[in-house]
Amino acid sequence: MIYLDNAATSFPKPDSVVKAVEGALLAPASPGRSGHRPAHEASRTVHRARKAMAGIFGAKDPERVAFAANVTWAINVAVRGFDIKAGDHVLSGTLEHNSTARPLRLLRDRCGADWEAVDPGPDGVLDPEDFRRRVRPGTRLVVVNHASNVTGALAPVREIKEAVGAVPILVDTAQTAGSVPLGDMASWADVICFTGHKGLLGPTGTGGLCVGEGVPCRALAVGGSGSRSESLEHPDFMPDALEAGTLNTHGLAGLAAAASFLAETGIEKIRAHEMDLANVFMEGAAKAQGLRILGPGLGDPRRVATVSVVMEGVSSSDLARLLEEGYGIMTRAGLHCSPMAHRASGSFPGGATRFSFGFFNTEAEAETAAGALREIARARR
Ligand SMILES: Cc1ncc(COP(=O)(O)O)c(C=O)c1O
Repeated sequence: MIYLDNAATSFPKPDSVVKAVEGALLAPASPGRSGHRPAHEASRTVHRARKAMAGIFGAKDPERVAFAANVTWAINVAVRGFDIKAGDHVLSGTLEHNSTARPLRLLRDRCGADWEAVDPGPDGVLDPEDFRRRVRPGTRLVVVNHASNVTGALAPVREIKEAVGAVPILVDTAQTAGSVPLGDMASWADVICFTGHKGLLGPTGTGGLCVGEGVPCRALAVGGSGSRSESLEHPDFMPDALEAGTLNTHGLAGLAAAASFLAETGIEKIRAHEMDLANVFMEGAAKAQGLRILGPGLGDPRRVATVSVVMEGVSSSDLARLLEEGYGIMTRAGLHCSPMAHRASGSFPGGATRFSFGFFNTEAEAETAAGALREIARARR
């Protein structure tokens, strides 16, 4: 098997992640609740995960990181915090995943908010000037996907924040956290949402949001927090304000181990390796007749190692099937939960076949995938 579906979820996970999850499963403890030794140990594990995530985003205070089941939940929590009302204006890109697009659409339908989505330019990349031009007095929030899970295009999120000035920005780092160094993102982004099971190399069921100081936080759900138990009101301090119920301690043990793996390996090194693979693949795939590669091209640094292709005369799902049946290559076909991104890329409604490279892929695998595309294209002609 050649696994090229890392944008869906990364595989394999480092051994240390598997061991950490197993260790947590064998521990008799719930974090932040009981006072016995294993419970304290579980709390320390959760804190380690919080600290590690804060480190990835360049946040000074780990308590600004609240955990959630995934980035979808985190985005829903974050958007709720802004209390968007009828007539308020919200901006996003059109390269958003449905995990952003659907909550924004709901704001429009239920609350009467005015949601406007900005197309990328002809190079497939968002232009900060397009955001600057659209900001108006009622603009309450800007939401941007840091890297498209369809075209791989990186959004110039920092420049977009500079362009929109005081308007808060929410960045979806589902496709960049762990694969792209994020530097001091927390020092300028108001909310950063993440998912643990993709580039962060952790288990599914982990994710969350890193919320800037002074950014409004409102829970989507309230309940047990292990703190202020005397009160029937949910705590209003971070991170408890955004966490209700027992955390996924087992998953977070894995996420903490994954963060250690990333720190030991170096995210710069991971990025360089993944981009080498994407470039090897794109160079080889470009020789396949009738093949269109979406997003920024070969050698363009404004992308991640997620490369979607459209082959003339072959549906995206047929292409994925031929790749799996003939070559054992796992990809993802269709619309990738991102219909707007496909519209913007001219690949709607048929979608595309997506190859997404991860740290554990090899150059030989990238070459095999490109060779498979060339063979399939030849056979079809
Ligand atoms: C850009 C982007 N945002 C959000 C998501 C949703 O991730 P999750 O299902 O982990 O919430 C994905 C997953 O494919 C994604 O690629």
